[in-house]
Amino acid sequence: MSTTPSPAPLPLPTANGLEGVVVADTELSAVDGEAGSLILRGRPVEALAGVSSLEAIAHLLWTGEEADPAAEAALRRRLGEARVAAFARLPALGDALQAAHGMDALRAALSHLSAPDGGGDPIAVTAATATFAAAWIRARAGLAPIAPDPARPHAEDYLRMALGTDDAAAARAVDAYLATVIDHGMNASTFAARVVASTGSDLVSAVVAGVAALKGPLHGGAPGPVLDMLDAIGEPARADAWLRAELAAGRRIMGMGHRIYRVRDPRAAVLERQATLLAAAPARQERLALARAVEARAEAILGERRPERRLRANVEFYTAIVLEAVGLPREAFSPTFAVGRVIGWCAHVDEQRRRGRLIRPRARYVGPRPGAADPGAAACG
Ligand code: COA
Repeated sequence: MSTTPSPAPLPLPTANGLEGVVVADTELSAVDGEAGSLILRGRPVEALAGVSSLEAIAHLLWTGEEADPAAEAALRRRLGEARVAAFARLPALGDALQAAHGMDALRAALSHLSAPDGGGDPIAVTAATATFAAAWIRARAGLAPIAPDPARPHAEDYLRMALGTDDAAAARAVDAYLATVIDHGMNASTFAARVVASTGSDLVSAVVAGVAALKGPLHGGAPGPVLDMLDAIGEPARADAWLRAELAAGRRIMGMGHRIYRVRDPRAAVLERQATLLAAAPARQERLALARAVEARAEAILGERRPERRLRANVEFYTAIVLEAVGLPREAFSPTFAVGRVIGWCAHVDEQRRRGRLIRPRARYVGPRPGAADPGAAACG
């Protein structure tokens, strides 16, 4: 078939990666990449995560209202009941939780929910995400799932269901972590969830799309590799040579850089503080010291290479330290991210339904076109 090069039919620049493109108005969160700030419903993330409970922050995100103690307790109770309901579904999930990758397990398990039996309810979906993620963590260790305790706070019960431990300091850190990652503007997984919601599809389908997008290492999959990097470096004195060799081999430094932030990700500071609170044990202090040294060297070396494109620590860098310190295995890091972010996906799906239109951008076709002498083209008219 004869072809001719394609002319460019759209008189618009291609926004590859949609960088800088505004696709929605939102009241949920604002990310300022130059100032290094994250605002959730008008409050800075530093004033929420580790200060208010996850339930209070979820209430704020979902309703726009500050949670009074009664509203916070009511959401805690409803999430607890919904975890119990999700746990009762485990036998019906088949081999979904046997998947080797936690995000595959979560995607498959959440797909079992459907709108008529609670799958359309943000509380049910949020509770199921925590319950299924915890059950997968148990399953991969060859252990039976642990039943929820509906009276406990959501974060505390997630950690208990996942590890079988009851550690107040660790539970507080996980609560702060989940709140830190609860929402973050039009990130890739949130956008994926909104695209699905924009077609009129249901909440579970939108959340499953979010899980699928979050799985990728450029989005939510970096904290495990951050720990692999710290293990490989071993001690602060080796950081420089290791980082330079990695970059010379054409690889990226995990936990560094961000599409939006040109300064340090504000969530890195919130999580670094949580890591400090957890670092009572000498081994944890050593790990945190190594992380800080590697961050400082990585920032300096990346700055030497590209002074005009500042690459600094992102949320995943200290996520790795916090989630390791509470005892979660690194394979559980991405599913744990989803346990927090699902709250934001639910808020965005609701907002998309109320205010949004079908999301349907265009692509500039740059492939060949049928030539004038092409008989196939002539036959098509
Ligand atoms: N290490 C080394 N170089 C990096 C880098 C990193 N972590 N992040 C970006 N760069 C480089 C890119 O190679 C690119 O260089 P080039 O122009 O010579 O090709 C330049 O910086 C710009 O990168 P770009 O891909 O345009 O940035 P982005 O905005 O698309 O990417 C991330 C943002 C997060 C995907 C990217 O910084 C990254 O891959 N970080 C590591 C993974 C990670 O931590 N993910 C979690 C994100 S919260």
